[in-house]
Amino acid sequence: MNSPLREGPLKSVPAYVRHARLIAWVGEIAALTEAADVVWCDGTQAEYERLCALLVSQGTLMKLNPELRPNSYLARSAPSDVARVEDRTFICSQRKEDAGPTNHWMTPAEMRALLQTGKADGTPPLFRGAMKGRTMYVVPFSMGPLGSPIAHIGVELTDSPYVALSMRTMTRMGRGALDVLGADGDFVPCVHTVGAPLQPGQKDVSWPCNDTKYIVHYPETREIWSYGSGYGGNALLGKKCFALRIASTMGRHAVAQDGRGWLAEHMLILGVTSPEGKKSHIAAAFPSACGKTNFSMLVPPAGFNGWKVTTIGDDIAWIKPGADGRLYAINPEAGYFGVAPGTNDHTNPNCMASLKRDVVFTNVALTDDGDVWWEGMTDAPPAHLIDWQGRDWTPAIAQLTGAKAAHPNSRVTVAATNNPVLDPEWDNPAGVAIDAFIFGGRRSTTVPLVTEARTWAEGVYMAATMGSETTAAAAGQQGVVRRDPFAMLPFTGYNMADYFQHWLNLGDKLAAEGAKLPRIYCVNWFRKGADGKFVWPGYGENMRVLEWMVGRVEGRASGAENVFGTSPRYEDLRWDGLAFTPEQYASVIGIDRAAWQQELVLHTELFKTLEYHLPAELPATKARIEALLAG
Ligand code: GTP
Ligand code: SPV
Ligand code: MN
Repeated sequence: MNSPLREGPLKSVPAYVRHARLIAWVGEIAALTEAADVVWCDGTQAEYERLCALLVSQGTLMKLNPELRPNSYLARSAPSDVARVEDRTFICSQRKEDAGPTNHWMTPAEMRALLQTGKADGTPPLFRGAMKGRTMYVVPFSMGPLGSPIAHIGVELTDSPYVALSMRTMTRMGRGALDVLGADGDFVPCVHTVGAPLQPGQKDVSWPCNDTKYIVHYPETREIWSYGSGYGGNALLGKKCFALRIASTMGRHAVAQDGRGWLAEHMLILGVTSPEGKKSHIAAAFPSACGKTNFSMLVPPAGFNGWKVTTIGDDIAWIKPGADGRLYAINPEAGYFGVAPGTNDHTNPNCMASLKRDVVFTNVALTDDGDVWWEGMTDAPPAHLIDWQGRDWTPAIAQLTGAKAAHPNSRVTVAATNNPVLDPEWDNPAGVAIDAFIFGGRRSTTVPLVTEARTWAEGVYMAATMGSETTAAAAGQQGVVRRDPFAMLPFTGYNMADYFQHWLNLGDKLAAEGAKLPRIYCVNWFRKGADGKFVWPGYGENMRVLEWMVGRVEGRASGAENVFGTSPRYEDLRWDGLAFTPEQYASVIGIDRAAWQQELVLHTELFKTLEYHLPAELPATKARIEALLAG
């Protein structure tokens, strides 16, 4: 490498970095952001420890009691920076139609003026000087097993050491990714700043961020620019930004090369092994904070001896058709950024076991003996805690003010390898062949426990029209039902109607090749009774539904056909070890005609919004369902 490239901010480029385009880009961004320093991350344990020590010294991390929670830390974010900001998330394609009506859009030129180059009226770009006084970390990462034909490389430049640290847990980060990249491999450039430059002598805060936030994607040039937030999917750019928004567009564009393309989905991937030793693989899409991590680590209940569920992934799946026409899925991530509240030894014992050590907790409560706590971790809360904002918390205070000890979107960051039920295939570059897809929302009414679609198109219809009550995973109002097609509303990087078409086309193509397509199921664990409580016990008990699905795939289990497809009758599920009456079952599986007529109005509204390019098959499927419902 000739020397000018390695001067100024680039004097720190390690000798092993051979990628001239990468080095030049790092130099450009360092110059634009006026970063004080550039550090190249190598992904080693020593580096991880250095970052932890630095974050402790800056007050971002607090070391937890090493006897109770070895090698683990607590971070508290700014109270204004606690979740994904969908309002501030943009898809900047050349044409508005290509972003579609479900995405916020701006032209690339306009957005670049705002972020990178400055506006005609002289307004400076947001990224100019944004890293002043801060170190810029160069974080190379692979989404997917290193060198997997399904994997892709990204490089995130970030001024947040918390982000650099988290990226090491969440992705295959460091030198290995650069080795895959070689001297001129392709990577997705991801630029991230917390947007809080430091003036000389200015004291830093423990969680720098900016009230102005932009989470920006350029799908055509495959770039990500994120400004102002240090939290979760806003800042760990490999996750929702790359592995879903950019990757979904990559998967669709790949049709032009191979006639099929691929899928990037908000799905967990699990293996389920029967007592006879037969293993199936299921991918399931539930919206944010609707049960993916839990389902992916499910512990079968008493009465299901010999059944075993193993985790391949808990949030994202990249799925490609293989030469045999089957769909192969990998988990592009290497760790879990999981919801803390509600997690306990009963609901998710495998997650609890994963959290015994080597965890970064964010926005949970701190116990007096230096451990963590969150709502739902134990039946009775401790007598005293420090809440997620660093304030005293007692059950009495909570009763008075309603203050939560942990933020509802508090999270754990932990390596997949901590999971006691990690599937042996989780790191297999070839992926696992998917036998069934599940789509499920959080609905207190209307949607039955489980339905099997009769056809691929019917399954696509169910997924496309899915509604779910909003959760704390995204900023904004909670508990309102919104359409969340495929659990991808905030994550599809292109026009949602085109996305539906991509799913339909893939099914058609594989079917035409004679492949056996995965079955498609729609589930809802969240129906509530008149008392406002969940009727279905959920969690491990979801195994009963999973067993039925596996039985269906294998042609064993029976069910009854209804308006939407096939659902199990009471006697089609196994009830060993659970007292659940036929009446209770009726209240979670029942189809209320009036409620569904209302629901279909919402489908009509969705289709109206997505009119441009809406596949004709979807309204046609709707008409068939309406006729059945009327009949
Ligand atoms: P993201 O990481 O935001 O994508 O969320 P997720 O889909 O992985 O959701 P997760 O498994 O973390 O669960 C979110 C919340 O739903 C937690 O509070 C869980 O305790 C709760 N939950 C998960 N599964 C069930 C279930 O089967 N029944 C009920 N009632 N609650 C559940
Ligand atoms: C989600 O919101 O679906 C998450 C958390 O998995 S985040 O990484 O913040 O997107
Ligand atoms: Mn998620």
